[in-house]
Amino acid sequence: MVTYRSSREWEIMREAGRVVARTLEAVRRAAEPGISLRELDAVAARSIKEHHAVSSFLGYHPSWAPTPYPATVCLSVNDVVVHGVPDDRVLAAGDLVSADCGAELGGYHGDAAMTFCVGPPDDAGLRLMDVTRTALERAIAAARPGGRMGDISSAVERTAREAGYGILEGCGGHGIGTAMHEDPPVPNTGRAGRGLRLREGLTIAIEPMFHEGGGDATRVLPDGWSIATADGSRAAHFEHTIAITGEDPVVLTAL
Ligand code: MF3
Ligand code: CO
Repeated sequence: MVTYRSSREWEIMREAGRVVARTLEAVRRAAEPGISLRELDAVAARSIKEHHAVSSFLGYHPSWAPTPYPATVCLSVNDVVVHGVPDDRVLAAGDLVSADCGAELGGYHGDAAMTFCVGPPDDAGLRLMDVTRTALERAIAAARPGGRMGDISSAVERTAREAGYGILEGCGGHGIGTAMHEDPPVPNTGRAGRGLRLREGLTIAIEPMFHEGGGDATRVLPDGWSIATADGSRAAHFEHTIAITGEDPVVLTAL
């Protein structure tokens, strides 16, 4: 069931979203060569706690996962696309890190992700990040009342195809509000003009994730959570939680 939320509820989600944005920023700043993913997860845990919020991910146990999620944030390095579980891996210069964070505050959730490079990126990595961020911007611009979900999905898909990047089958965004994952699904592929009619009050997380290889095959790592590209190519992931309003969409997880 799709829930439409009031501007009063967007305001609470904006506060949760601000915690998410600040936490991702703290993680990005701390991601120097030599730091472990576990240490970065602790940075995120401290930030969320400082803001009197709670991680949406820690202990989350969707039906498809073998275990409850064991950490505060997802940290997905290079060929890991999403749901990377922070472990003792130590970051090196040139690693592409996708950090994904969800926080709950006042009964509402915010969910956002970004990819950054440890140290200066190579040209191909920079392009991958730029194109994936552009896909998110285009998709947000398409999130207008009177449009369709397919307008959002096709903005994401077209941006990947034009650049020759792969999109993972079955991975995409979602409705969000009093739960982190709500209806409707927000697919990363689709046709403009099709699907759910977009209405004021819809609050969704849009999350393009692209990889350098053109395919859509994945493998799940032994931790049961981390989803990596089957071809070993590197991935990027950008996500914002937004509200569809009567006018421009509002990004609830902006800094
Ligand atoms: N942004 C991710 C998603 O919507 C975060 C979920 S991670 C989990 O799938 F650990 F909580 F599952
Ligand atoms: Co999400």
